[in-house]
Amino acid sequence: MTLNTRKRVFSGIQPTGEAHIGNFFGAIRNWVANQDEHEAFYCIVDLHSLTLPWDPAELTRATLAKGAELLACGVDPGRSVLFVQSHVPAHSELAWILSCVARMGELRRMVQFKEKSKGETESVGVGLFTYPVLQAADVLLYRAHGVPVGEDQRQHIELMRDIGQRFNTLLGETFVLPEAWIPAAGARIMALDDPTQKMSKSADRPASVVQLVDPPDVIVKKVKSAVTDSGREVRAADDKPAVSNLLSIFALAEGVPVAELEERFSTSGYGDFKAALAEVLVQRLAPIRERYRELMADPGETQRLLATGAEAASAIAEETMADVRAKTGLLPRL
Ligand code: TYM
Repeated sequence: MTLNTRKRVFSGIQPTGEAHIGNFFGAIRNWVANQDEHEAFYCIVDLHSLTLPWDPAELTRATLAKGAELLACGVDPGRSVLFVQSHVPAHSELAWILSCVARMGELRRMVQFKEKSKGETESVGVGLFTYPVLQAADVLLYRAHGVPVGEDQRQHIELMRDIGQRFNTLLGETFVLPEAWIPAAGARIMALDDPTQKMSKSADRPASVVQLVDPPDVIVKKVKSAVTDSGREVRAADDKPAVSNLLSIFALAEGVPVAELEERFSTSGYGDFKAALAEVLVQRLAPIRERYRELMADPGETQRLLATGAEAASAIAEETMADVRAKTGLLPRL
């Protein structure tokens, strides 16, 4: 007897800001790995990008570009469903219903809200506060089991379990309670210019991130200017946060253990180590950048693939919504 272990996975990425190696090693790489074994849904969450001030033309460009980036990374529309959140209106509908189940207190505890609102509670947009409810709707809508994400999303996934569980208890078994699938390595890549901060699309400090589509000379420049720690040993240690971060990036890019790199660079200084890291990253990202450029030369193809994805996603979303509307007591339209 063979056991069917195929599960459904869902994950999302915001379109604004070019994807970087933190997104890649923390999440996208695992999206690609999961599409062989599991039924995968991957979403460009454009509505989430409205929670901070935005430029409409840039949002349109970035949404299409994010589609091309994901395809270039190996998300395969033949094996997974890749789509844009706003193309499936059920995300917004479910988010409203869940916002009537979620509680102010639990949303107030969200670390990302505290960080992004910078302590400002009166003038900050309501959408930033309810952001995690829309995220809960994204996943619960597909009754997904696994959510491949980086460490920074753990709290949001715990919250969606709580909201889903509360709905199930109040109105009847409806949602699968999802689990965060966080990788053992790469779950929290730190900024190159400050190892105490996570690498972030919205940092507004170009030197802090390596983007997947950065040209080779830019990658070399950024890696060479990355901060290091005192001393000169290439070794991962608590008192060497910058070098530890660079070592874990190197290990992920080359697919070797950190210990092997410590051994390899045991007689080198930081300069040689960083030159080697830059070379490895250039090699690792070259095919992604090349494919991205090809796709962006004919964006119509990416747009068509996203439309096909939205159709497949809508079919599943509508099944769940029929159940949700009935359980909620909304009068069916004749
Ligand atoms: P976003 O767009 O910030 O990031 C996309 C994915 O990349 C991961 N990530 C990182 N991993 C390691 N190191 C880093 N420095 C790093 N920075 C980002 C994130 O953990 C994420 O997995 N709220 C989400 C988007 C979202 C979503 C969802 C995710 C909306 N709905 C439903 C999962 C399921 C976000 O802003 O991700």
